Amino acid sequence: MITPNLIEAKKRSQRKSIVKDAEYKITNELKQLGKGKTYFIKTYGCQMNEHDGENIKAILEDLSFKEVDNYEKADLILLNTCSIRENAHNKAFGMLGRLKHLKQTNENLIIGLCGCMAQEEVVVQEIMDKYKFVDLVFGTHNIHHLPQILNEAIKKKELEVEVMSIEGDIIENLPVKRDSKYKAWINIMYGCDKFCTYCIVPYTRGKQRSRKNVHILKEVEDLIKQGYKEVTLLGQNVNAYGKDLDEDYRMENLLEDVAKTKIPRIRFVTSHPWDFTDQMINVIKKYDNIMPYIHLPLQSGSNRILKLMGRRYTKEEYLTLFNKIKEAIPNVSITTDIIVGFPNETEEDFLQTLDVVNKCQFDSAFTFIFSKRVGTPAAKMKDNVSMDEKNQRLQKLNEVVNHYARVANEKYLGRIVPVLIEGYSKKEDDMLMGYTDTMKLVNVKGDSKYIGQIVQVKIEDIKTWSMDGSIVN
Ligand code: 5AD
Ligand code: SF4
Repeated sequence: MITPNLIEAKKRSQRKSIVKDAEYKITNELKQLGKGKTYFIKTYGCQMNEHDGENIKAILEDLSFKEVDNYEKADLILLNTCSIRENAHNKAFGMLGRLKHLKQTNENLIIGLCGCMAQEEVVVQEIMDKYKFVDLVFGTHNIHHLPQILNEAIKKKELEVEVMSIEGDIIENLPVKRDSKYKAWINIMYGCDKFCTYCIVPYTRGKQRSRKNVHILKEVEDLIKQGYKEVTLLGQNVNAYGKDLDEDYRMENLLEDVAKTKIPRIRFVTSHPWDFTDQMINVIKKYDNIMPYIHLPLQSGSNRILKLMGRRYTKEEYLTLFNKIKEAIPNVSITTDIIVGFPNETEEDFLQTLDVVNKCQFDSAFTFIFSKRVGTPAAKMKDNVSMDEKNQRLQKLNEVVNHYARVANEKYLGRIVPVLIEGYSKKEDDMLMGYTDTMKLVNVKGDSKYIGQIVQVKIEDIKTWSMDGSIVN
């Protein structure tokens, strides 16, 4: 049993990450582990976690498990969890609670928990104390070891925990079962060294480790051969890509090299304003296949709160960067993340946030109430702001954010825009759906033969969070 430790996870070793291209291996015997059995995986949280889920699915299929979409029919249930806020925690524990009765009717059912929550000692302790029916827990650095962990859990019939707290290495030979045939996530780096004071990610995902460009570019080339139209380069702080590598090769170089592969669409998330360079802006501007869409988390508009958050920029610096991007890249859409109710946030601080939102008029924003994460510096800050007040601020902020989201969408009415058609709309049966270059969701009237293609769509109706249109090519 290897259990997590957040204090260990906070340490940053000087050691360079080792790239391992043969670390994931399974014996012929293990390849039969899931023969005749099914699995169900539920993923919570960010795109990183979604992509980990795609790796986990492929590993389980290497072990001969077959995917089912109803957990009540599965022989193996995995919860791939998220730690970012309290409600993500609660959702995962709520789901675990619902699984308990299944174990009573099927004693061979295997239940596991992985993802960011597995990296927290409070969570693993709670599982050992209160959720004794759980069979395995594995961490974000242990995914490649899943076959062995699962095998142990099945053999021993008791809880198997394997969670490394120091950062793992870079495993290059994980299989992947992608959810889409047209859009792919590509990790370009793991972990984060920014340590914003409210954030648990640097603990659950460890030290920043960038993948080598040759591996990333090879992955893009392979995806092009398979017919993929879009890649999203993933990292907690992608602009810092390369800072931990020996070569002088940074995000702007990587973006340029990925653009030169001619993959039709390139996106990247998430950017931290601190590392967003002029060179990056120039590269985005230069290449048509780098999409004019940037997610640029603001978090707060108050300089006092930004300092307490450890964000390393001021309101003025954020606005300067924002304006520079808007001026350089025509048609760019910019979205953001905002936290309200950080410890002791005053009304004046909140008004500063609203002021930035009014100035930037974001295309959309993810808004959150500050959530205490055990082990982070902000969790120890005294707080005299009531939950009522925080809720009111969130509501007020959402009204303003929604207003600008609609205003941004209204500018599209009557325009013809490129949309990658991904499949059928979830809401309307006979409609297709896809995203514009600027990441606007469009429900599209048109023939299903266009699924997987980038088509020209005339926008005919506008809503706050989506638009309707028809294919015109
Ligand atoms: N409380 C509330 N929101 C948080 N985020 C990260 N940590 C917290 C927290 N403790 C938000 C930030 C980040 C997004 C992914 O989640 O806005 O950009
Ligand atoms: Fe968390 Fe800040 Fe790193 Fe983003 S940049 S993952 S908010 S610590």
